[in-house]
Amino acid sequence: MERINTYEMFLEQEGIPVIRDYSIPDLMEVPLKPWARKGGLGAYINLVGAGGVIDAYLCEIPPGKALEPQKHMFDELIYILSGYGATSVWVKGGPKQSFEWHEGSLFAIPLNASHQHFNGRSDKPVRYIGLTKAPVFMTLFNDLEYIFNSDHVFSSRYSGEEGYFSAKGNLIKTDDKFANPKIWESNFVPDCNTFTLVNDPKRGGFSNNAHFEFAGGIMSAHISEFPGGTYMKAHWHGPGAHLLCLSGEGYELMWPLESGLTAKGVERLKIDWKKGSIFSPPDRWFHQHFSTGKEPTKLLAFHGTRSLKYKPLGSDYGGVAGARKSIKHGGLQIEYADEDPEIRRLFQEELGKTGVSWKMSKFFS
Ligand SMILES: [Fe+2]
Repeated sequence: MERINTYEMFLEQEGIPVIRDYSIPDLMEVPLKPWARKGGLGAYINLVGAGGVIDAYLCEIPPGKALEPQKHMFDELIYILSGYGATSVWVKGGPKQSFEWHEGSLFAIPLNASHQHFNGRSDKPVRYIGLTKAPVFMTLFNDLEYIFNSDHVFSSRYSGEEGYFSAKGNLIKTDDKFANPKIWESNFVPDCNTFTLVNDPKRGGFSNNAHFEFAGGIMSAHISEFPGGTYMKAHWHGPGAHLLCLSGEGYELMWPLESGLTAKGVERLKIDWKKGSIFSPPDRWFHQHFSTGKEPTKLLAFHGTRSLKYKPLGSDYGGVAGARKSIKHGGLQIEYADEDPEIRRLFQEELGKTGVSWKMSKFFS
């Protein structure tokens, strides 16, 4: 008997392309196809690193049009890649709330809340990326009728509270000294490109960072920014993280954990990125970000299993802050002093191509 994969079955019936790769060089260049369920154009993204805990899709809203209303039993984060528009959200017994967005906006759709997206311009399409927990929920219930047609209102998460999408938020305090330096709980970030970040001492000291918690949900995100001529420390963790480059340019090196600090026996996978690129480090692979451009690199990371509020099923590999703590102290991060010298040789070679100066001397005296 052939075993059923409900999520794969669902992808087939959606009738739009599915991209399966380690990365996508430019989300704005991905060809999209008509998508009957949504009423726009779309393509699914199933990167290798998603590991079944998260998926992604691209969607385009034609000029002057609205998508079909949707409701689903899985969490979703949305980032606007281009255009301007608005979204309405409502649940049974609550008021309909609408908020406007534009390129750079990031927001969450509360679990099983009805919602509808509108393009606010008649001359340009809107393109956005959605990150969802659909693979997990579909594989858990194996019933698409339940996923798309349940009336349950998760009122402890959202029941139509006024101002829910107003961009207000709370700074969350934590005693964990390895946690992100700024943790912001909100449901709507108007512009990730201008959101105020703070210095992050745990990743070398030259980067700025902020972490987001959304809609009482299980998905989270963070932004990190670091100047050209610098690179972050390598680390590893479980599957699901998707990194979208918002600005700057550079590359990623990735290799399996079992190959060790020096990637013994394997060639590191190198992925070049620029604005609009997305990549996802596979489960239990080391990965390391390198910024080679004249502008600082800004990466927006989406997480399927890194909520501060809810502990995930299975191992979360040292918790939310594990990837920011040295391997030598029970964490998942390689210190510069312990890394393979080939890492910095290649970086210097790459900087030679862009003409950006090396700013890492203080770490290698
Ligand atoms: Fe990571």
